[in-house]
Amino acid sequence: MSGEIVCPGDKSISQRILIIGSILNCDMEIDGFLDSADPNSTLNALNEIGASIKKDQEKVFLNKRNIPFHEPVNDLDLGNSGTGARLILGLISGLGLRSKLIGDSSLSNRPMQRVIKPLIQMGAKIDSNKGKLPIFTLDSKISNNFQYKMPIASAQVKSCLLLTALASENNIKVIEPKITRDHTERMIDYFGGDISFKQKANIGEINYKFHNLTPKDSYKVAGDFSSATFIIVATLISLNSEVLIKNVGLNKTRSGLLEILKMMGANIQIKNKKIESNEEVGDIVVKSSKLIGVQVPKNIIPNIIDEIPILSIAAAFADGVTKISNASELRVKESDRLNAISNGLSKLNIIHEIFEDGLNITGTKEKVDSEKKINSFNDHRIAMSFLIAGIRSKKGISVENCKNIETSFPNFRNIMNSLGMKIDEKN
Ligand code: S3P
Repeated sequence: MSGEIVCPGDKSISQRILIIGSILNCDMEIDGFLDSADPNSTLNALNEIGASIKKDQEKVFLNKRNIPFHEPVNDLDLGNSGTGARLILGLISGLGLRSKLIGDSSLSNRPMQRVIKPLIQMGAKIDSNKGKLPIFTLDSKISNNFQYKMPIASAQVKSCLLLTALASENNIKVIEPKITRDHTERMIDYFGGDISFKQKANIGEINYKFHNLTPKDSYKVAGDFSSATFIIVATLISLNSEVLIKNVGLNKTRSGLLEILKMMGANIQIKNKKIESNEEVGDIVVKSSKLIGVQVPKNIIPNIIDEIPILSIAAAFADGVTKISNASELRVKESDRLNAISNGLSKLNIIHEIFEDGLNITGTKEKVDSEKKINSFNDHRIAMSFLIAGIRSKKGISVENCKNIETSFPNFRNIMNSLGMKIDEKN
C-alpha cells in the first residue's frame, strides 16, 4: 500500500455540529462534514423539527430561521445511528417537543434505558418499547442544576444530557466513571458556553452553566480517527508500505488506539499538529511494521471503543497474544461486536478465546484462508475490519453484507483501492 489521502470527516463531530448549530440558530458554513448515512439521519431529523440545513456538495449550510423548533409531522427516523438517536432524544427532551423516534432493526434492539432513565429524572416525559425504540417524547419540564453520576462510561449518555440542559437553558453536572470522548464539551466551549471539566484519577466531572452561546459563521469538522484506523492497520500489516493520512482528528479521548499500536511496535509518526474548531488534528505517516501482542490497559477501553474490531485484526497478525478485557459495551453496539469478531476470527482459523467482556487473540505469521464467507452482522466496522484482513489471506476474503459501510465511511472501498488494496464490488 502506498499513497496519501485526506481523512474523511468525523461522524461524531458531524452529528454534534448539526445539533448544536441548530440550537445556535445562525447562518453557518460547515466544512469537512461526513456525508454518510448516520449524520444524514440526524440532519433529516433536525429539519423535521424546523432546522434549516442544506447540503451542497462538500459543504453543509445551516440557515438562521425565523420560526422556533416545532413538533415533527413525521416520525424521526435515526436509521442505524445510536449517536443520532440518543443525542436527538436529548435535544427533543430539552425542547419539550412531542415526537416519535424510530430506527432500523439494529438500532431498535439497542438499549435506550441508559438515556431514558436520567432524562425522566431530569423532568422529561418519555414512553418507550421496554427501554428500546420506538420512543415517544411528550412535554417535559426540565429541572435546573440536575446532577447525574453515570453508571456506564458513555459519551452518548453524557452528550444527551448536556444537550437537554443546553436546549432547556438549564445548568447540569455530569460525572463519568471513565473519561469518554469530549467533542460535545469542546464544541460548547468553542461557541463560548460556560463548561468546565475536572478529572480525578480516571473519573471526569463536567459542569455546564447556561448562558447564550455565541454564533460563528463557520465550523471545520476534523477527520475521523476511527476511519483512519482502518487505513493505519491495513498499512501496518502490509509489506513494504507507507501511507500518509492528512487531517486526522487526534483528540486524546478518541485516539487511544495510537498508544496501543505503538505498544505493539507500530511505526507511526504524527506531523503538522494544529487546533481547528477546538479539536486537535494532524497528519499521520504509517509504515509496515512487525507487530507484537499486548495486554490492552482496561482504562483505555472507552477511548478505543470503536476501534476494537480493527485492533483485533492487528492482533490476529501480531506475534503473541493480545488481551482485551473490560469491553462488555461492545455487546450493545451496531452488532454484538465481541461475538461478531470471534465469529470472523474462527472462520479465518485464528486462535482466540472469547469472554463476557473481551477477547484473547493469538496472532499468526501464516497467510489466512477462508472457505466460508465472513458475516458482517450488518455492522460497518466488522465489515471493514475483515475486508482489511484480506490483505493477509491466500486467496482473498469474502465478507457478506457490506452495505452498512455507508453509515460511517462511504468512500472506504475507493480509498482502500486507491492505496493498493483490491476490494471488489461483490463485497
Ligand atoms: C459515540 C460514542 C460511542 C461510540 C459511538 C459514537 C458518540 O458510544 O461507540 O460510535 O458520538 O458519542 P458510547 O458513548 O455509547 O460508548
